[in-house]
Amino acid sequence: MPSSTEATSVIPKHVAIIMDGNGRWAQQRKMPRTYGHKKGVEATRKAIAFYARAGVSHLTLFAFSSENWNRPSEEVSTLMSLFVTSLEKNTGELIKNGIRIRFIGNRAAFSNKLVKQIEKSESQTADNNVMTLNIAANYGGQWDILQAAKQLASKVKNNSLDPETISEQDLAAHLSLAGTPDPDLFIRTGGEQRISNFLLWQLAYTELFFTDTLWPDFSELVMQQSLDNYTSRQRRFGKTAEQVGAG
Ligand code: IPE
Ligand code: IPE
Ligand code: MG
Repeated sequence: MPSSTEATSVIPKHVAIIMDGNGRWAQQRKMPRTYGHKKGVEATRKAIAFYARAGVSHLTLFAFSSENWNRPSEEVSTLMSLFVTSLEKNTGELIKNGIRIRFIGNRAAFSNKLVKQIEKSESQTADNNVMTLNIAANYGGQWDILQAAKQLASKVKNNSLDPETISEQDLAAHLSLAGTPDPDLFIRTGGEQRISNFLLWQLAYTELFFTDTLWPDFSELVMQQSLDNYTSRQRRFGKTAEQVGAG
């Protein structure tokens, strides 16, 4: 390989982010938590533009977990209306930048208005190919594995699948991100070091990057740090350092 292509090979193909810390960001300013969520939308726009420009081909953002319904109802309803308004406002920018948007998670609990807007944004951007942006909303890693297992079980029931032959690839093919390479880099802002039921199956060999920066403050400087830090990692996938180094 000529050395000019080596530099680009360390850009992660797939980056997955837990956008955490909006509530604390607002509370530090004596403002309601919902103010932090509004500010968070701006940070989200910047992050999408940054990682697309860096050459990342799949970006998956955790926007609302299966467990976030347990928050105070006014916070949940602000988040739901923010989804609608930010899609209305920003789908044009996605189209301009060649970004395809897809939602993963259980849509059944969303309002008609939100479901319609999601479908509209998805179809208007379906042919874009600079980067695919996956928004995980009403998503849980356990839910995802469970719905995949249910699909496999019904194939077994109707005799189109032999349970003895089920492979890891078969299960992966029924997950929400089927066909997308597993994340290379996982980022969590907001200081907590946990997965919070995000992509449980797909993060098996992902490099993890945690930052104390709260999501509304997630700047290009920290975004670049996440990529530089990834570049410094040696991914071994169970092999020895010597085997990988010789690769
Ligand atoms: C992340 O920020 C956004 C969502 C979970 C929707 P938080 O709202 O969790 O912010 P903190 O963690 O309370 O600061
Ligand atoms: C994870 O953040 C979910 C999203 C960022 C959408 P949380 O703030 O809900 O996670 P916990 O409760 O601190 O684990
Ligand atoms: Mg949080």
